[in-house]
Amino acid sequence: MSMQPDRQAPPVTAQECAKHAAAAAALDHVRDGMRLGLGTGSTAAIFVALLGDRVAAGLRVTGVPTSERTAEQARDLGIALATLDEMPELDLTIDGADEYDPSLRLIKGGGGALLREKIVACASRRMLVIADASKAADVLGRFPLPVEVNRFGLGATRLAVERAAARSGCDGEIALRRRDGEPFLTDGGHLILDCRFGAIPNPEALAAGLAAVPGVVEHGLFLGIAGVILSGNPDGTVTSLGHPDVR
Ligand code: 5RP
Repeated sequence: MSMQPDRQAPPVTAQECAKHAAAAAALDHVRDGMRLGLGTGSTAAIFVALLGDRVAAGLRVTGVPTSERTAEQARDLGIALATLDEMPELDLTIDGADEYDPSLRLIKGGGGALLREKIVACASRRMLVIADASKAADVLGRFPLPVEVNRFGLGATRLAVERAAARSGCDGEIALRRRDGEPFLTDGGHLILDCRFGAIPNPEALAAGLAAVPGVVEHGLFLGIAGVILSGNPDGTVTSLGHPDVR
């Protein structure tokens, strides 16, 4: 039996109100019969709860969850689920973000689901991001960049990450993510390095450098993946960035 509430509690704080507004606006992009990537995090969870209401009212969609957490929530709500093996191409992924810039570049992975999130988003024709406006940044990097790494060779991988970052003009503390005093493990059984680089002057160069490190499984820079960002404001209005038909 799941501990997750079936329905989302009504928004109380201004930030919750903003997240709710973004999640609700995303429903307008969902059509009957769609194959949907379902994101991870508190904003994505609001979207999944609202989607569950629509499914209960007769909407037919199939979701591919980006984490065990989201899978459990969706299952509890009666949303039909599939894997990317069964359904390798999706119509739309709806997911949150930890930070976004005016070019729709993202930092993701605060919830530790970045690997599955990126695989699912890239298997989708479009990615729609739902976030509250506090996630907006002129330059990415205020949020520590999550880098998912293999457990083997952690020390060497950390050093290689540091050197790759330096080559793209980034430096700062690189910390192993912990939960309850123990190393945090992703759904795939990997570790996460949270990289406090501050402003990232060239996200593309950093992404390429990180991708070339053998122990790096994936990094939280989502570049050229999001087509639209629905940014919720505290007053409940939503600002849309990007174009719905563009990846
Ligand atoms: C999880 C993520 C989330 O999308 C991100 O952390 C945003 O979460 P929230 O909606 O709770 O602010 O990348 O890996």
